[in-house]
Amino acid sequence: MIELDYRNCLAARIGSEGISEEKLESVKKQAFAELENIKKNPPGFMKLPVRFDEARKIREDAKKYRDFKNLVVLGIGGSALGNITLKNMLTHTYHNQGKNGGYPNLYVLDNVDPEWTSELSDIIDLKDTVFNVITKSGSTAETLSNFFFFLEKLKKERSDWKDHLVFTTGNKGFLREFADENGIKTYSVPEDVGGRYSVLSEVGLFPAAVTGLNIESLLEGAADAEENEHVPVTYAALQYYFYKKGKNISVFMPYSKKLESTADWFRQLWAESLGKNEKTGPTPVKAIGTTDQHSQVQLYMEGPKDKVFTFLSVKDSSPEVKLKYDGHFLGGKTMRGLFNAELEGTTGALTKEDRPNMNFEIPKIDAYNAGELLYQLEMACAITGGMLGIDPFNQPGVELGKKLAYEILEKNTGQLI
Ligand code: PA5
Repeated sequence: MIELDYRNCLAARIGSEGISEEKLESVKKQAFAELENIKKNPPGFMKLPVRFDEARKIREDAKKYRDFKNLVVLGIGGSALGNITLKNMLTHTYHNQGKNGGYPNLYVLDNVDPEWTSELSDIIDLKDTVFNVITKSGSTAETLSNFFFFLEKLKKERSDWKDHLVFTTGNKGFLREFADENGIKTYSVPEDVGGRYSVLSEVGLFPAAVTGLNIESLLEGAADAEENEHVPVTYAALQYYFYKKGKNISVFMPYSKKLESTADWFRQLWAESLGKNEKTGPTPVKAIGTTDQHSQVQLYMEGPKDKVFTFLSVKDSSPEVKLKYDGHFLGGKTMRGLFNAELEGTTGALTKEDRPNMNFEIPKIDAYNAGELLYQLEMACAITGGMLGIDPFNQPGVELGKKLAYEILEKNTGQLI
């Protein structure tokens, strides 16, 4: 199971910048009480790990789409980041460049940059492509905009255009109506599951299954995470404590390229869930080891003491990449050895500077551990939100910008702006 090493947060190691064992015990008690409270009326995401029947159905369905060369996900925010995270974590880095094991390539369009959309359009053949349009509200402008662009092309080029579409959406909204009118294959996003907590629902599971990932194992990892509650509880307790002590910035720094997108996913989870009421909100910052040692770590070491650090490391030592060069200290070492030594060097140096840091130790990168990790972080977020006294499941702040953008577009009806 995934463990959290938090010793570098303790006062015994970092003095008054840290937390005493006694204080930690009492904040953990508070966090456990919050978890019990949450469980009395469990939010939707907590019901996802046991949906094995649904996962089996999705796995069976997914087989029908594996003859396509490309799966293109159109979505944004919580309707895209989970897919990107799972792809980057669990498929070959060069999945889309010939290392896909015979499964479809996966592209996720989570922006409305016309160059980006057109360039994807340049490299895919619509005959070989299925689009999974994901939007819980069914009305997000970015997602619909990409959808309309490809829909027009599909209708022009393919008489079977409907077979090239799969929707994942809520019970109402534009996309649901379009699906009903045109008989498009549609998955429902469970009503009580918000975007950023939806990776283990149809939102994440369908693209994962089409691209060959073991989605049942993903759910098993999440289900088993419930037996390991002390991890999210301790993480929430520490995040809460240090935030209250004025450490407003929460740096999330995997020492693993495969986990890099997990930091993007975490950033959204933490920011949209906890930034509320003009009062609360630790600022999540993404970094990646070792790359950002050469970009950010100077600031982390000598800048303001306003940060708490989360590292992620992988225990599994494969693949073994040996370095052979006589007469250099790197000769005879492994690349994993260097990676781990650099992580220890960074955490050790931060600890010497009295900067609280903790490490999620992941046994190995696979679907089971991915499920466990993502679910633990969701639980930790819900607990931290409860401790901060805010609602971690809404996002009213996102709405105003959307409304203003739509007003601007409406004023310009009929014109290209
Ligand atoms: O977490 C959230 O709720 C948001 O980030 C949404 O996922 C995002 O705004 C996209 O919304 P929708 O799925 O309705 O298109």
